[in-house]
Amino acid sequence: MQNEIKACLGPVVRVGKEIAYLPSVTSTNDLMKTMAEAGAAEGTVLVAGEQTQGKGRLGRSFTSAAGKGIYLSALLRPSLPPEALLPLTGFTAEAMGRALKRAVGAKTQIKWVNDLLLNGKKLCGILTESAFSTEGRLSYVVVGIGVNVNYDREDFPEELRDMAGSLRTELGQTFPLAPIAAVMVEELDRLYGALLAGDTEGYLTGYRKNCLTLDRDVLLVKNGLSTPAHALDVDEALGLLVRYPNGEEALIRSGEASVRGLAGYVS
Ligand code: BTN
Repeated sequence: MQNEIKACLGPVVRVGKEIAYLPSVTSTNDLMKTMAEAGAAEGTVLVAGEQTQGKGRLGRSFTSAAGKGIYLSALLRPSLPPEALLPLTGFTAEAMGRALKRAVGAKTQIKWVNDLLLNGKKLCGILTESAFSTEGRLSYVVVGIGVNVNYDREDFPEELRDMAGSLRTELGQTFPLAPIAAVMVEELDRLYGALLAGDTEGYLTGYRKNCLTLDRDVLLVKNGLSTPAHALDVDEALGLLVRYPNGEEALIRSGEASVRGLAGYVS
């Protein structure tokens, strides 16, 4: 798999200079954090055949069966202030949308803030984890990406079957994993270069265009409470600008609330 990915990979500047593959890991994010602490180079990518404890956001697990998906983590060591990284996870969703369009022609959409959907079904999840020095400086960032490729509906846990999809369930085809993984790495490398150069305008424009949350009535869910609102826009850090029924507007940061009420997919 490692050699297959390398054979498919075009030129990269940082992400993907080193690619490691392991058939089975607990979580590529967890292992990459250990590798980062041990001094792994910036841009190292770890791909796993399966994860036995794949992690999602908000303490959820991420289904990671062997041969059915792409599970990878990339190590970044950006010399940037932490606030410059606020949009990284959302822009990664935009970058993965570009990758899946290039690799298999899939026309994905983004559900704020960083879920990638195809036909309203969640296809790809992203989990970014950062580590800071004792002085509060950013030491490294691990960007973890999972893409459902060859799952059938029955492969997902029953409670996820109406929300989760794969390239196979939505496009009716089985896909080899390595060529898709290679394009994902290329697009991640391109995004990281843009982020370091402060040149992410194209990602913001693309995100706004592809984000199906915008211009919709949504329910903002926070601490079990649901508040209706209309999603207006995202700012440069991908905070969600909403208008409440009383006309007041507010900016919701990622992690402050989740969004519900969109066709076919409830977070
Ligand atoms: C989510 O949708 O909640 C985020 C899912 C992130 C899954 C990926 S798979 C590779 C990496 N390793 C993990 O344990 N999680 C991320």
